[in-house]
Amino acid sequence: MALSVSRSSTSFSSLLLIPFLLLVSHYSSEAQPTELSTPAIVKGLSRSFYKSSCPKLESIVRNHLKKVFKKDIGQAAALLRIFFHDCFVQGCDASVLLDGSFANPSEKEAPPNLTLRPDALKTLDDLRALVHNTCGRVVSCADITALAGRDAVFLSGGPDYKVPLGRRDSVTFATRNTTLANLPAPASTVDALLLSLGTKNFDATDVVALSGAHTIGRGHCNSFTSRLYPTQDPTMDTAFASSLKLTCPTTATVNTTVLDVRTPNKFDNKYYADLVNRQGLFTSDQDLFTDERTRGIVMSFSKNQKLFFDKFVIAVTKMGQMGVLTGNQGEIRANCSARNSDNRFFLQSSVVEGWAQF
Ligand code: HEM
Ligand SMILES: *[C@@H]1O[C@H](CO)[C@@H](O)[C@H](O)[C@H]1NC(C)=O
Ligand SMILES: *[C@@H]1O[C@H](CO)[C@@H](O)[C@H](O)[C@H]1NC(C)=O
Ligand SMILES: *[C@@H]1O[C@H](CO)[C@@H](O)[C@H](O)[C@H]1NC(C)=O
Ligand SMILES: *[C@@H]1O[C@H](CO)[C@@H](O)[C@H](O)[C@H]1NC(C)=O
Repeated sequence: MALSVSRSSTSFSSLLLIPFLLLVSHYSSEAQPTELSTPAIVKGLSRSFYKSSCPKLESIVRNHLKKVFKKDIGQAAALLRIFFHDCFVQGCDASVLLDGSFANPSEKEAPPNLTLRPDALKTLDDLRALVHNTCGRVVSCADITALAGRDAVFLSGGPDYKVPLGRRDSVTFATRNTTLANLPAPASTVDALLLSLGTKNFDATDVVALSGAHTIGRGHCNSFTSRLYPTQDPTMDTAFASSLKLTCPTTATVNTTVLDVRTPNKFDNKYYADLVNRQGLFTSDQDLFTDERTRGIVMSFSKNQKLFFDKFVIAVTKMGQMGVLTGNQGEIRANCSARNSDNRFFLQSSVVEGWAQF
């Protein structure tokens, strides 16, 4: 793939003809999970947390998701994004899964929820039911969300890695305001991203690697039409802009397009080739190439997929441990979308809490 900006517009029209990639056979191979230089595991989490209480946990999740993704590969991106939203708002505590009420508007009701796809939210509770039917109510929705995020990456062609487990589920709602304050907007510049993710302990390499999650999935017109109208963003390739204008003829169009124009359903490093060719969809994507502080990292990831995968695993492992509840904090929900105290089916439930972890 050509890396030079000058060749981008000539190659763009042919890229539009690339058919969506089918899921590669990647996940049938017995790849070794990445172990190298992953960040420290926070107190209370462990990679063998469910070794005796739910030994089949990871195979139940992976096998179910293989079937789900075979029917709808879009759910992989949706699940990865739910994991990100969960962790960035109030920590990885499954607060993102709670249904809100008038009195308690939840994260789901805040505007960035736009593509928290309902079918992916349902998949998480389906996984919870499968796991609880096998092991009892011992595994949290927060851990299931983290494992689903990992499997979304791996089953789309990305790296496999071990996930520290033992998260507990929140009994508090994240407010609409904390949701808005903690999720970066697509119009964010590198300045804003380095600042807001810096306060969460992510460095420039982490920011560029995490943004690489946009190698899969889709975005709505209103997340990027400010780059098209009234004036076209000069950092966007002109042929790319023209094709986006066909998808989003006005700022009011409700339509979606792929985040990675080269390999939209494959977790690979082509997102960085998009940026080098000025075909990043959001300002927050393209600015990683425009800004000199992050351009070199984008270039190196575009040339070296293994480097991207290694840095992604480090950053996403850090992300997956943000603000976790452990030990006897929080609870293990019997229903991912409701706190146990609010769950009117809970008392009738035949699923009983399993043996204590501590
Ligand atoms: C760095 C700041 C980030 C910004 C500004 C951002 C913004 C967005 C926006 C605006 C969308 C599309 C929403 C829509 O229009 O429907 C999106 C989609 C997505 N984001 Fe991000 N995001 C960021 C970081 C992340 C991270 C860290 C991850 C995961 C590790 C992630 C994973 C995804 C995925 C997979 C999708 C596609 C979802 C789908 O197809 O349903 N994003 N992001
Ligand atoms: C997203 O939030 C809007 C209100 O801002 C709400 O009407 C909608 O139901 C929410 N979507 C989901 C999937 O919860
Ligand atoms: C949420 O933010 C809005 C706008 O900044 C503000 O008017 C409102 O009072 C905040 N609500 C709460 C509950 O903090
Ligand atoms: C949505 O985008 C497709 C191309 O991706 C386009 O053919 C269609 O006309 C668009 N829909 C609207 C309402 O503009
Ligand atoms: C889970 O909780 C939600 C929200 O309270 C409720 O609508 C749903 O029916 C519950 N699901 C089950 C299986 O009890």
